[in-house]
Amino acid sequence: MRVIIVKDYNELSKAAALEIAETINNKMDCVLGLATGSTPEGTYKELINLYNDGKVDFSSVTSFNLDEYKGLPADHPQSYRYFMNKNLFDHININKNNTFVPNGMAADIEAECADYDENVAKHGGIDIQILGIGQNGHIGFNEPSDFLYMNTHLTNLTQNTIDVNSRFFDSKDEVPTQAVTMGLGGIMKAKRILLLANGSNKAQIIGKLVEGKISTNVPASILQVHRDVTVIVDESAAVYLKKNIDKRLNIVE
Ligand code: GLP
Repeated sequence: MRVIIVKDYNELSKAAALEIAETINNKMDCVLGLATGSTPEGTYKELINLYNDGKVDFSSVTSFNLDEYKGLPADHPQSYRYFMNKNLFDHININKNNTFVPNGMAADIEAECADYDENVAKHGGIDIQILGIGQNGHIGFNEPSDFLYMNTHLTNLTQNTIDVNSRFFDSKDEVPTQAVTMGLGGIMKAKRILLLANGSNKAQIIGKLVEGKISTNVPASILQVHRDVTVIVDESAAVYLKKNIDKRLNIVE
């Protein structure tokens, strides 16, 4: 696991966007694994800037999003499909038919989940997976639990996640209690993983992710066994990192 500590959110967003653009420039028809939440918003803005400057071309790119709330239609302002259109897809030259977000409205959720994994596999797997992290260590919507899931599945959100995500909704009652999410197996199959975190409210979980024990209570900790993970954090999210931090290079190997 490689950890890069940058000064602030602005630097984090620029660094992440450059990594993604480089992946696309090395492989025009690459497959991106995308995340929602407030963390990657800046990265998507920077990617749009790079696109407007002619530095990246999304015309052959395919994308798969990690998750979607159950019961929110694509045109609901808090659905992750809506988020992706608004924050990225509407502003770049990606073919929207090649952008996939789990369908939280599917009548047969089990079939939807199986089809989603099959579709990722059909496209040759994910080249680079972008991740945020929940304060409780969830990635996608893989919540802390006694066991973790391999494949895309329907999950119950924890009260902590509902509380934290309620800031995007008018009231707590409006936050869906379930979501469709890629499983840890699907995430771990990505060739590269880029996890982003900023702010002091992520400091504790970043400490656990990088230096803690691998535990199903911190689902993101399983990333410690992936071959190619880069964690980019700002200084305030890095305050609990103790080991081998080379402040000059800002890189922990
Ligand atoms: C949400 C999403 C995650 C995201 C996390 C953190 O619940 N399902 O994919 O990483 O919460 O969100 P934020 O970046 O807003 O802190």
